Amino acid sequence: MLCQRTITLVKQSIPLLADAGVEVTEHFYQRMFAHNPELLDVFNLSNQRSGRQQFALFNALAAYATYIDQPEVLSDAIKRINHKHASLSIQPHHYPIVGEHLLATLREKFPQQFNAEIEQAWAEAYAFLADLFITQEEGIYRQAEQHHGGWRGTRRFTITQIVQESDLVKSFYLKPSDGQAVMPYQAGQYLAVQCDIPDQSHRQIRQYSLSHASNGQFYRISVKLDNLVSGYLHGLHEGDELDISPPAGDFVLRQTDTPKVLISAGVGITPMMAMLHTQAQQQSDQAVFFLHACRTPTQLSFNSELTKVADALPALTTYTWFEEGATGTSSQQIGAGRMILAPLSGTLPVNDGEFYLCGPTPFMADLKQQLLALGVDDARILYEVFGPHESL
Ligand code: HEM
Repeated sequence: MLCQRTITLVKQSIPLLADAGVEVTEHFYQRMFAHNPELLDVFNLSNQRSGRQQFALFNALAAYATYIDQPEVLSDAIKRINHKHASLSIQPHHYPIVGEHLLATLREKFPQQFNAEIEQAWAEAYAFLADLFITQEEGIYRQAEQHHGGWRGTRRFTITQIVQESDLVKSFYLKPSDGQAVMPYQAGQYLAVQCDIPDQSHRQIRQYSLSHASNGQFYRISVKLDNLVSGYLHGLHEGDELDISPPAGDFVLRQTDTPKVLISAGVGITPMMAMLHTQAQQQSDQAVFFLHACRTPTQLSFNSELTKVADALPALTTYTWFEEGATGTSSQQIGAGRMILAPLSGTLPVNDGEFYLCGPTPFMADLKQQLLALGVDDARILYEVFGPHESL
């Protein structure tokens, strides 16, 4: 346990982390990559460029310092990070590296405030948190390894089928190249794909939600074409191979006897497809609402698949919103423009349903506000952010 003096000193230095601007966070990453260039194979370089990831670590440490004497407040947030780390195969020996550059950055950037006593307190507090992370991440690795069809680290998969789902989204069906089983997963989880892209000096890892129900035979991810890595994946062919980490993630469909409302925008539809297929696989007679927004009809993915799932799920109601060019199919109820829930307030299970959100952060923030305004309890609103986590 940390002593009271350490806790007090760590709390005193919260503003250093909470207000760490771009200059400080960039200094940290540049320092770390200069001394430990091997970590460039682990971090998402486009998140680095956008600066989004740079703040995630400092914000998380500021939150840790704030609740250092009430760690239970952070348990969900820590679980989320542990899943993300485990999917990226973060190892125990990485923690002292991050710790060293973190302390050095604070020392170099705040020579007055970050004195020797505070540095010692942070060294202890960081080591305490790192131990917790290492233990929990080892638990996730071991669980994956012990599952039937499970593994640790990466495993080679063959792309057995590629399906163009819409203008921008392709699905990749993946089977282990060793011909063995694949471990089960929970709807909503993702897997990490390692990409060695020609002409790129560093390996890139990306996480993609699984877009089909767990079935023991294959995995399916559905990738939107929008950057270097997705461009690389879209250029692959059936028969090509990829290195993949086991499914992970804590945004999962709860196995409860309550109505489910799956709300997505754009490629945020992918975990919702896994949830929907899972409900169909379980022959659930529970009400399911599938609400989806996308830009145009040609960007609507899984349209015919949705119609087929609807046959297996009599209690499914779908609504689709097109930002532009709304023309609909007869099986779906179509809206135009922004997704507005108020007209559905009498239809949606606002009092007892679970609401799952996935899409761009502004979309989810908007929908969360709309749900709260309809009277949905915050605890029943669950969401997945693609990319570094941002609070809604
Ligand atoms: C992601 C915190 C240690 C590598 C994250 C995120 C947070 C975080 C908050 C964002 C999670 C999300 O998006 O949901 C921490 C804390 C650490 C720590 C508090 C120390 C106790 C490490 C270490 C490594 C690492 C030791 C490996 C060198 C990463 C990577 C990501 C990540 C690669 C994904 C970000 C990206 O590439 O976009 N971490 N982390 N972290 N962390 Fe850590």
